[in-house]
Amino acid sequence: MIKKLAITAVTALGLSTGGVFAAGGEQHIEDFAFSFEGPFGKFDQNQLQRGLQIYTEVCSACHGMQYVYFRNLADEGGLGYSEDQARAYAENFEVWDPELSDGDGDFRTATPADHFPANTAAGAPDLSLMAKARAGFHGPYGLGINQAVRGMGGAEYIASILTGYTGHEKEENNVTFYENTAFPGGWISMAPPLVGEDVEYADGHSNDLHHEAMDVSAFLMWAAEPKMMARQQAGFIGVFSLLILSVLLYLTNKRIWAPIKKRAKSGEA
Ligand code: HEC
Repeated sequence: MIKKLAITAVTALGLSTGGVFAAGGEQHIEDFAFSFEGPFGKFDQNQLQRGLQIYTEVCSACHGMQYVYFRNLADEGGLGYSEDQARAYAENFEVWDPELSDGDGDFRTATPADHFPANTAAGAPDLSLMAKARAGFHGPYGLGINQAVRGMGGAEYIASILTGYTGHEKEENNVTFYENTAFPGGWISMAPPLVGEDVEYADGHSNDLHHEAMDVSAFLMWAAEPKMMARQQAGFIGVFSLLILSVLLYLTNKRIWAPIKKRAKSGEA
């Protein structure tokens, strides 16, 4: 019985890890070093700002980000923009307001209370939650140890996609696919969106492909989890107070039992 269970478990693990990528070649996810990794990690404000620039100038041509509000740009622990800066960014966009023009609807300038636009014209998925929807690291054998050590790797996955093009293309049913070492299956229908030097950074930071990919991936991590800093801080405080509580309980326990132990000892003598 136990043997049978063990065999079933091993088979299930094998299937769950092997199955996903068995179809394509080797999936390669590079372990980029992001500033927000680890229990004391923090978003790099300048990096997020550069990432927003790439998102705006490149990715938003095909992708939407409809679950993020413009006002989030001024949230604490994020890009560090003021409310005026968030408003100024929003004012670059027009949104459809169904209540204008006596209910006929009309376009108006966006405000911080509006969402980033959706964009499905090119058949590209919404990027609001992409960094949480994908995992870069798996296994070994479905145990999730890699994720415990290196994190889920959503940002690494995106950065690896952006840097993972081999330059090979193929056409199937009039759709062009581009070979990509990070994409499951090995062929993605997104043309390489970044090649390096696609944007000019105001802060003079390197705009080679590697850095651009990291910047926009960090930005998308923030978009998917803007409260990450607050969550990590709360977790740290939680663990820290539990530690203190354990020490206090240990000392209290010792103190309560001290007279009884003493009596027991003198009884022995
Ligand atoms: C020319 C249009 C276009 C541009 C520009 C573009 N994308 Fe895409 N993207 C697509 C399409 C189409 C897909 C769907 C690809 C597929 O599923 O084969 C996609 C898919 C993706 C995926 C999802 C991969 C997955 O696991 O499903 C990510 C992540 C992504 N794009 C990120 C970006 C980023 C970041 C940028 C900006 C640097 C960008 N894209 C720019 C068209 C585009």
